[in-house]
Amino acid sequence: MKAFVHELGVLKIKEMQEPTAEEGQVVVSIRVAGLNRRDLYIPDRRGTTSEALILGSDGAGIIHSIGKGVEGIAIGDEVIINPSLRWYENSDAPPGGFDILGMPDHGTFAEKVVVSAEQVEKKPAHLSWEEASVAALSGLTGYRALFTKGNVKKGDTVFIPAAGSGVSSFLIPFAKNVGAKVIVTSRSEEKRSKALELGADMAIDTNGDWEKVLAEENIDLIIESVGRATFNRSLDVLKKGGRMVVFGATTEDVVDFDLRKFFYGQYQLFGSTLGSREELRAMLAHMEEYKMIPVVDSTYDLIQAQDALDYLKEGKQFGNVALRVSE
Ligand SMILES: NC(=O)c1ccc[n+]([C@@H]2O[C@H](COP(=O)([O-])OP(=O)(O)OC[C@H]3O[C@@H](n4cnc5c(N)ncnc54)[C@H](OP(=O)(O)O)[C@@H]3O)[C@@H](O)[C@H]2O)c1
Repeated sequence: MKAFVHELGVLKIKEMQEPTAEEGQVVVSIRVAGLNRRDLYIPDRRGTTSEALILGSDGAGIIHSIGKGVEGIAIGDEVIINPSLRWYENSDAPPGGFDILGMPDHGTFAEKVVVSAEQVEKKPAHLSWEEASVAALSGLTGYRALFTKGNVKKGDTVFIPAAGSGVSSFLIPFAKNVGAKVIVTSRSEEKRSKALELGADMAIDTNGDWEKVLAEENIDLIIESVGRATFNRSLDVLKKGGRMVVFGATTEDVVDFDLRKFFYGQYQLFGSTLGSREELRAMLAHMEEYKMIPVVDSTYDLIQAQDALDYLKEGKQFGNVALRVSE
């Protein structure tokens, strides 16, 4: 089968052996896979490892074959893949054994992928294959950061730097659906307009003077993923006693911050990563209830996977990027 792999320091399309379903596993025939920023980091993490690894954490497709002992799933079922491996019940942090699909295990940028039967969920009927393919990783990350960790409530003002991010394209409607006010930033005017169309109440320039523009706002909750470029600027606009959830560090991981200002401000800082199956199911139910449609910026063919990654790297997208694998 055709797959997009990392091998000996190089990303390329390669013919790989089709996987088979062992006990408790299913093979999913991928229709569309979803890209994530994580995919960009795999080459650095693997260096010159000689064994080919199929990239990709997100995907939607059809059950192709089923291993022994699998119940409640049939060949032909339409599913999305849960990339959050072995984290079933909600908990403060992922359990031991947690991993993300697409490293170390083979991922979704291939005609077929094998996963535990515990890792597939019914594809939401109101979504196209493209929309379904990008929902799990970004949607789940956003859902846990906003609801579980951020404890968003009706009437809260939520601030989200980087409106263009795949996860932000879920955060904006999630927060609006529960009656929060949403303020976003983006470096691009076009993306600020798109964020307003998606429901944001206010969209400001990432490079502008936030303290001045937001002087009248009482920001209860900030969902941060940009990292060094915005972390301190975000803390500066959070109300005293407010909550900040960090789930990413797109620019740089390491930041200096003023502890005295932090404890005088009595801020609450939370870390978040992906989420449990319980949260994924709650997220899918939320999407169903509000008939939410994930934002797909663009779709590439599997053989153009490198172009799709380059596009993501340049940060041109608003929302998510998909890879069409089969018709
Ligand atoms: N912990 C987890 O489980 C988890 C899960 C998902 C993602 N993440 C991490 O969270 C982050 C967001 O993920 P994603 O997939 O949504 O990312 P993404 O789609 O690639 O979006 C990143 C966004 O960051 C903004 N940005 C990039 N460089 C910037 C800079 N120098 N200054 C200000 N803003 C900048 C851009 O927004 P504008 O173009 O609008 O300015 C860009 O669209 C990534 O770091 C990712 O690795 C973590």
